[in-house]
Amino acid sequence: MKKLLFSGIILASILLFAASCQYKFVVEPEPLPPGDTVSFSLDVVPIWNDNGNCVSCHTSGNQRPDLTPDNAFSEIMNMGLVNTADPAASEIYEHPHPDSDGHSWKKYTNAQAAVVLQWIEQGAKDN
Ligand code: HEC
Repeated sequence: MKKLLFSGIILASILLFAASCQYKFVVEPEPLPPGDTVSFSLDVVPIWNDNGNCVSCHTSGNQRPDLTPDNAFSEIMNMGLVNTADPAASEIYEHPHPDSDGHSWKKYTNAQAAVVLQWIEQGAKDN
């Protein structure tokens, strides 16, 4: 009986440890405080590129828009996916938004969507 309890505790510890490790690998960008400048290359591109998040499908010769770091900016501009006059209506923000009905392939997290919106609200600069 004691042995069983002991293995139970060991198992629970392993599970807890695994769960805590997993949590650390979830990359959740925090929306920057209002007034802070969003960087396209440092804040937005990693949302699309890191861990193949979007670029697992969206690469040159595959699914458009090509969201790889070198091509993403010109691609989304040329395709008209950014609307600085009405940022929330921008396709690059709205289509993969967590609340969107379309694009069931992959959605932004709420935090990722917030960073993308903030970047467009600040003029969608190639910064
Ligand atoms: C599993 C493959 C896959 C992944 C991963 C994926 N997409 Fe897509 N995406 C597609 C396909 C297929 C389409 C075209 C059909 C549609 O619009 O749903 C598309 C369309 C789009 C469009 C619309 C383009 C247009 O012409 O209007 C945008 C914007 C977009 N994706 C952004 C993203 C973003 C941002 C991510 C990452 C959060 C992402 N996608 C991840 C497959 C994917």
